[in-house]
Amino acid sequence: MTTATFSTQRVDPYNPPAELARLQREDPVSRVPWRDGFIWAVTKHADVRTVLGDARFSSDRSLPGHPMNAGYTSAAKLKNLIEMDPPDHTRQRVRVMGEFTVKKIAGMRPRIEQIVESAIDDMLASGDAADLVTALSLPVPSVVIAELLGVPYEDHDFFQVNSATFVEIDTSMEQKLEAMGNLRTYIAGLVEARMENPGDDILSRQLAAGAGAEELTGLGFLLLIAGHETTANMISLSIATLLDKPELLEQLREGPDLIPGAVEELLRYFTIADVGHQRLATADIEVGGELIRTGEAVYAFGHVANRDPDVFDDPNRIDFTRGARNHVAFGFGPHQCLGQNLARLELEVVLEAVIRRIPTLRLAVPFGEIPFKEHGPNYGVYSLPVAW
Ligand code: HEM
Repeated sequence: MTTATFSTQRVDPYNPPAELARLQREDPVSRVPWRDGFIWAVTKHADVRTVLGDARFSSDRSLPGHPMNAGYTSAAKLKNLIEMDPPDHTRQRVRVMGEFTVKKIAGMRPRIEQIVESAIDDMLASGDAADLVTALSLPVPSVVIAELLGVPYEDHDFFQVNSATFVEIDTSMEQKLEAMGNLRTYIAGLVEARMENPGDDILSRQLAAGAGAEELTGLGFLLLIAGHETTANMISLSIATLLDKPELLEQLREGPDLIPGAVEELLRYFTIADVGHQRLATADIEVGGELIRTGEAVYAFGHVANRDPDVFDDPNRIDFTRGARNHVAFGFGPHQCLGQNLARLELEVVLEAVIRRIPTLRLAVPFGEIPFKEHGPNYGVYSLPVAW
């Protein structure tokens, strides 16, 4: 057992907390003090996959003792996939999975390219400097999800403004909660409208496949929450890294074929889910030689698992050719990210377009002065001042 308390805060912009890297070396499945109790911190790649692959490590936040139970308010009781266990989870997930296959998502490429080109047009027309987060990283996934859900074009502004309010640093908790309420009500209205008037969109197809209105509102909201800020953070971190490390940018400029590999490697490298996948053991289960008992809380730390030297050679080096597909940046097992093909596609399209269209793009502040989101839950940047 490790008795020192530790922090999940990042101090080095390019690396997960050093304390977790130390645990991985010395005590990879360790019982550590956390808030007013203890958690199991799981840090090796194989052990993280064991935890995430076993649904007896429950995601159900309504269970007493679940590490996310404290934040479980009546407002959040609209259960969605990410906080459900089998068999309910399996039933809902199977119903919606077909919407996110590689083939289905690949069909979205032309439209995503248009969305990205148009965001870059607007950014370039605005002058010779911008905050890349508000100009590109946030709007692109927001418009993509709006279109996926079938949000009518005239409501895009409302959708985008409210979803950005969640994540911007200068909005108060009150504003965030209000924006969340607005979106939830909006999505519930959208579901109702589709019940009366089905269209060619995910909500209508889910209704036809037997999903109920409440489940579908939860799903629509989850897609927005899970797919907006995460993708935006990865866009910003990827571009900040390329601008900070010109040799990497040059590799992609000379060999655009490397972009899919670069996306995979940057996903591995940053693994933005910073507070770990939080689970509650519902049985006594051995992980990495330690017995985790029923009722104990488990945090599986993907970011440090993705630097495990037993799996990735020279793990702290960014290598676009390493073929990093076995990373756990999208989780693993039953809850593995439903939108991963979409996230990959958005990242590929954005990197390709930015490199091609803005050859003079540069950071407008030193890399160390970028305001990084060091305190979780998702790593990223609050703003990214750039110029061209
Ligand atoms: C789940 C990461 C983008 C939808 C997850 C999980 C991770 C993750 C780590 C697993 C959570 C857990 O085990 O408890 C990411 C990252 C993204 C991204 C790094 C961007 C780079 C997206 C997008 C969408 C999406 C674009 C959809 C529009 C979901 C959903 C789940 C999920 C619905 C829950 C799946 C389930 O519980 O069965 N994501 N995600 N994500 N993600 Fe993503």
